[in-house]
Amino acid sequence: LERKATNVHWHDGEVTRENRAKMLGHKGVTLWFTGLSGSGKSTVAVAVEKALAARGVLSYRLDGDNIRLGINANLGFSAEDRQENIRRVGEISKLFADTGVVVLSSFISPYREDREMVRRMHVEADLPYLEVFVDCALEEAEARDPKGLYKKARAGEIRGFTGIDDPYEAPAAPELHLRTDQMTLEQEVEMIISNLQARGIIA
Ligand code: PPS
Repeated sequence: LERKATNVHWHDGEVTRENRAKMLGHKGVTLWFTGLSGSGKSTVAVAVEKALAARGVLSYRLDGDNIRLGINANLGFSAEDRQENIRRVGEISKLFADTGVVVLSSFISPYREDREMVRRMHVEADLPYLEVFVDCALEEAEARDPKGLYKKARAGEIRGFTGIDDPYEAPAAPELHLRTDQMTLEQEVEMIISNLQARGIIA
């Protein structure tokens, strides 16, 4: 990244992250859902959001399609644009996590290097970061085809579609590994909630 802003300095406030966590009753964290289109990233995030709300935990979802309709509307799907997409949503996730929110970020994020960039941002800010591999066989994701995009990609109507004619680099060591073609949604939600509890992020 070419930094164009010069002579800018970080300014600290007087209310700390710990103060905010006390107000909310839980810490902030970013759960980063990565996986193929149609793997279930958004479905799992929506279910986790509901389960957290039932426990009084404030969470917020950031989702590929939604973000690309707004702040990232000027980005496409080249490797370069995907990287910038992930850099921006990584920074946004970091800000939300710093407020004390449980951030549920669902992006294909196909490149390992881009995901490592987001992890680094969080580590440097001393914020918890959990990569969740939403793992689903391509055949299954393609059979689901909820938006009919795989069909279009196979027909050559969409170029550079992840899994068809664009790469997906699977995580090597995700904190959580969901096999959405083998587990139930309830099992997946339970796995995530108990992991957050075990880490002392939520009660
Ligand atoms: S990325 O790779 O992380 O920057 O992608 P993301 O922001 O998650 O956006 C993925 C959604 O965009 C739609 N879409 C495509 N996906 C992959 N490749 C191509 N070429 C493409 N074109 C459009 C698609 O609906 C993805 O949504 P999900 O929810 O993953 O199916």
